[in-house]
Amino acid sequence: MDKFIIDGGEKLYGKIALQSAKNTVLPLLAASVLTDEQVRIRNVPTINDVENMLHILSEVGCVIRRNKEYVVIDSSNAVSHEIPARLTRELRSSVFMLGSVLTRFQRAKISYPGGCDIGLRPIDLHLSSLKRLGVKIIEKDGYIECQAEKLQGAEILLDFPSVGATENIILAAVKAEGCTIIRNAAKEPEIIDLQNFLNAMGARIRGAGGGTIVIEGVKRLRGIDYTPIGDRIEAGTYLIAAATCGGEIQTIGVPPENIAALLHKLRENGCKIHTKNDKIELSSDGRLKSVNIVETMPFPGFPTDMQAQYGALCATARGTTLIVENLFETRYRYAAELKRMGADVIVRDRTAIIRGVERLHGACVTASDLRGGAALVIAALKAEGQSAVMDLSHVDRGYADFEGKLKKLGAKIKRVRI
Ligand code: EPZ
Repeated sequence: MDKFIIDGGEKLYGKIALQSAKNTVLPLLAASVLTDEQVRIRNVPTINDVENMLHILSEVGCVIRRNKEYVVIDSSNAVSHEIPARLTRELRSSVFMLGSVLTRFQRAKISYPGGCDIGLRPIDLHLSSLKRLGVKIIEKDGYIECQAEKLQGAEILLDFPSVGATENIILAAVKAEGCTIIRNAAKEPEIIDLQNFLNAMGARIRGAGGGTIVIEGVKRLRGIDYTPIGDRIEAGTYLIAAATCGGEIQTIGVPPENIAALLHKLRENGCKIHTKNDKIELSSDGRLKSVNIVETMPFPGFPTDMQAQYGALCATARGTTLIVENLFETRYRYAAELKRMGADVIVRDRTAIIRGVERLHGACVTASDLRGGAALVIAALKAEGQSAVMDLSHVDRGYADFEGKLKKLGAKIKRVRI
């Protein structure tokens, strides 16, 4: 298990070119089994979630070729409809393999993904939606077995605009008989990217980014060479780090509208932000003022995936911030670790009250989930003295070359293998 050793107090300066978005690359990889022609996806980040998804694809019989610039998936010989349990446990978001494996094989078997480090993560919306498309589902012994001689288009209303459920429905409906309409669909930019990817393969999908998505089933999808959108959560993480520590950075590859809610809060905190096309420039003196309240919401609201990182910023902002986490049950596990660094945080259920302190001091802290781990790195970069951030397996799931990119910005950070 690796750890970071961080000497805090440095301001951050420079430019960051962003990886392709983890949360778009994962569904695109799942979608690659929808054609028996070659699929090439560029700028794929070297992160563990992607490696796990590639393992799943090879387990169902895809041939994977990978180099630094791209991944090529050839699923012409894909044979298995069963997604291995050990990989489903590793990668919860493998659940949206269900939709694409069903479309390819008319059946699918997956172990119940279960909860994870940030909450229960139910999949009831996925399963009820697949049933609407004519899928027979048997849940037994911790497995979900799906059969669908023929996937039939249907009208589906989601109780909650779930990102994964929206993606699963699209992947199951794209070659179904007839037309499928998803109402109260997730509006995240990653959904638009999935629509663009599939339409470039010959699908007929419209409305992504709005609340209603229409999918007209097609017979065939062809291979593609595609570059996904930039990772807006990675961009937000570095922008929050620079806002917290002070300095001036520019992110390249994510349009500001994809993280507008975060940029709005950072401006309220006192950061200067200029944007042009897919460039976002932020400067900060590192002495921010707190905003009163931040509530996480589905897109275009404040992203839950930036809540922890923003909590680290609030720890030394002047004033008190109330954070409400509306998406997941246990996304405050980083708070106890911040307190070891001198933060003043009270957590009750889905609410955190963070009173800014003059300074944080270095400490040995342990990450327990992906974005919480990023939050601890940000706090350690800000803290006076040396910190150790333990259990990097979490941040390695979603941030390619995290320490390398931070070092380029002037951070004193090194990875130590233990
Ligand atoms: C996606 O997860 C992202 N993961 C998450 O990013 C992100 O936090 C989340 O969307 C919200 O934006 C990927 O895209 C791989 P949801 P997903 O279904 O699809 C409830 C990260 O850090 N729900 O939109 O699992 C659920 O309990 C990860 O990169 C149901 O009730 O999220 C939650 O409260 C973490 N029933 C809410 O919806 C269901 O069937 C949002 O979940 C499905 C979801």
